[in-house]
Amino acid sequence: TWTAGSIVEEQVALIRERVGSKRAICGLSGGVDSAVAAALVNEAIGSQLTCVYVDHGLMRTGETEQVEKDFVAATGAQLKVVDASERFLNALAGVTDPEEKRKIIGREFIRVFEQAQAEIIADADSDGEDVAFLVQGTLYPDVVESGGGTGTANIKSHHNVGGLPEDLEFELVEPLRQLFKDEVRMVGQELGLPDEIVQRQPFPGPGLGIRIIGEVTRERLDLLRQADAIAREELTAAGLDRDIWQCPVVLLADVRSVGVQGDGRTYGHPVVLRPVSSEDAMTADWSRLPYDVLATISNRITNEVRDINRVTLDVTSKPPGTIEWE
Ligand code: XMP
Repeated sequence: TWTAGSIVEEQVALIRERVGSKRAICGLSGGVDSAVAAALVNEAIGSQLTCVYVDHGLMRTGETEQVEKDFVAATGAQLKVVDASERFLNALAGVTDPEEKRKIIGREFIRVFEQAQAEIIADADSDGEDVAFLVQGTLYPDVVESGGGTGTANIKSHHNVGGLPEDLEFELVEPLRQLFKDEVRMVGQELGLPDEIVQRQPFPGPGLGIRIIGEVTRERLDLLRQADAIAREELTAAGLDRDIWQCPVVLLADVRSVGVQGDGRTYGHPVVLRPVSSEDAMTADWSRLPYDVLATISNRITNEVRDINRVTLDVTSKPPGTIEWE
């Protein structure tokens, strides 16, 4: 029978056998999946693993600091933080197609990992040992929805599956590939990760890049970050974090509407709140959030974020809508 303990035991043995005396790097995204995959591999091969957190500039407020603090404190794993925002934003300039965005982000991740690999090898600590393995927190639903399952159409190229470049230099280690999110959370608990990591709501690897409908720019990211921080703050204050699966905030960057803020006419952008409840993200329903919480979020966003003059609510389940808009 399935237990978190037996999964850990089995995977630790498999990873040790596969990696041998080589080195591995693990991309941390700040999300649950990559943190649990990293903790598992850290358990198996410890000092042969370097975790790499790529700040692609598409993160939410406070995300990078949280990874640096919580993850390292919980696991003691070696962490390398790479600021690659310039590179990702340049690569995304002018791009509006969702799949193209996803593929670019997936490709740039790998390029940054390759660069990190070279630096880790050059580092005295690694004895010149080759970094041959790339650990990813890919889950079963990621594989299915990227078209890797049996007979399933490609819905979205998850950055860590369909978004990978063809000339990948690494061998992949994906210890969570057969698990669903709730199982991953149990494995994380088994490994001693704190609730702040294990119970975190999902956040996609491509980050805010797939929550800006239209071209991704620094200014638009700043706008969305402010709106997103307010929504998260109010949901937490209302004690709703455990009741919802996640609540993407989406910026309709190419849409403008007329409003009146203060004593003048405005012509700003709408954001969409997308609160959902779900068991495994394969299907989802829109969350019936209390009206007063929605009202507070709406008031605060339109008062505090210049250039956002409308807040709308997405009341579509999955299917037919997906959770993220892109
Ligand atoms: P969708 O939008 O397909 O999302 O209904 C299902 C779940 O997956 C997350 N998601 C991703 N996670 N890389 C990730 O790590 C991705 O490329 C990606 N795309 C979507 C999404 O936030 C939701 O929880």
